[in-house]
Amino acid sequence: MLTQRALLRRCFHDRPTTEEQEREHDDRFCRQADAFTYALALYGEDAIGFAAAYRPTITYRGRAIRLGGLGDVCTDPGRRRSGIATAVVRAAVTELQAAECDLAYPCTDVTNPGMVRLYGQLGFVPLSRPHSYLGKSGTLCRPPRQ
Ligand SMILES: CC(C)(COP(=O)(O)OP(=O)(O)OC[C@H]1O[C@@H](n2cnc3c(N)ncnc32)[C@H](O)[C@@H]1OP(=O)(O)O)[C@@H](O)C(=O)NCCC(=O)NCCS
Repeated sequence: MLTQRALLRRCFHDRPTTEEQEREHDDRFCRQADAFTYALALYGEDAIGFAAAYRPTITYRGRAIRLGGLGDVCTDPGRRRSGIATAVVRAAVTELQAAECDLAYPCTDVTNPGMVRLYGQLGFVPLSRPHSYLGKSGTLCRPPRQ
């Protein structure tokens, strides 16, 4: 049996390792424990696909916005390119719509054409320019240098 946790470990090798990296990661991104729901694809008892959904409320230009976030999207390496990520992301987006999020916002590498295609087929478009934002601590987070 492959658990959801084991699937995430198998798929993401760039998890923060030091305490400082972990602090920075938590400041910039939602923590998985903050997900309000998630979509899980199962094959028998094995977890083979996953997407977490977040709905933090942020303030933008003085207005409260419910931001629908997607994270930890992954598919078991042996089962890729058969639509599993598409299915779990679609299910997570349905939950974001039901939660009345003002917008849905996946964070991905927009220089990777495969990722642009994956999210593009679900209606997402890359922002037209890099953007920065304030992390939970108020620290300015800039996009990674290309
Ligand atoms: C990225 C990832 C989630 C894709 O999962 P998947 O189940 O293979 O994706 P899908 O089968 O739903 O792909 C749908 C479409 O996205 C595009 N796509 C997905 N992965 C791609 C890749 N590695 N290269 C090029 N295009 C890709 C293709 O257009 C694909 O359609 P096609 O197979 O008909 O050409 C998977 O490779 C993964 O778990 N990677 C490691 C974790 C990761 O990087 N997650 C992304 C976080 S934003």
